[in-house]
Amino acid sequence: MHDFPNLTVIDHPLIRHKMAVLRSRGTSKKIFRELVDEIAMLMGYEVTRDLPLKDVEVETPLETTVAQMVSGKKLTLVPVLRAGLGMVEGMLRLMPAVRVGHIGLYRDHETLLPVEYYFKIPSDADARDCIVLDPMLATGGSASAAVSSLKRQGATRVRLMSLVAAPAGVQKMLDDHPDVQVYIAALDRELNDAGYILPGLGDAGDRLFGTR
Ligand code: PRP
Ligand code: URA
Repeated sequence: MHDFPNLTVIDHPLIRHKMAVLRSRGTSKKIFRELVDEIAMLMGYEVTRDLPLKDVEVETPLETTVAQMVSGKKLTLVPVLRAGLGMVEGMLRLMPAVRVGHIGLYRDHETLLPVEYYFKIPSDADARDCIVLDPMLATGGSASAAVSSLKRQGATRVRLMSLVAAPAGVQKMLDDHPDVQVYIAALDRELNDAGYILPGLGDAGDRLFGTR
């Protein structure tokens, strides 16, 4: 349980199982990538639960009926480079037609503050719902900066999807962007002195891309 009004923990048994394997230091790069992709897809199902629907008329082989489809509201996925890239394909499998923007950010190792090096999103961001993708919400500096950049471009409806969060990161999002709902698979204990989440899963970007 937690007391964060901005936080939704999606802890379906299948997600918990996959998170356990994801966390293990013995998990290979290949399996790690596959799991990030699968967990993102499973979470995406819940993160998009409130998408508006519209009635449509459908002719079945037997008669005409009224069914429902997702209405024209435009969605944009915004992965935070690098590690957020690992979550894109899983979400695109659910919603193949959505657009994808990119925000490049890295944490300065000394200050732990985010440094932005790339920003490219669809031009009509103000008319779109944005889902920011980043597996790790640690101090919250990167996610908060990503949301601030999107808002500067006119985005008004933003949500954040991460796999693992530290309480400090969720609190920073609540302080800086109380309007942004944060969806995660696990709320971990704390940050260590180097800003890593404990117990966490290590450096998500390095584990996804084989760097160190
Ligand atoms: C990681 C992670 C987040 C950020 C989280 O990225 O993917 O973007 O750290 O930390 P924060 O909440 O304290 O800001 P990193 O800076 O390691 O860059 P990378 O994905 O390019 O490796
Ligand atoms: N970024 C990561 O990749 N892992 C952490 O634990 C914290 C920040």
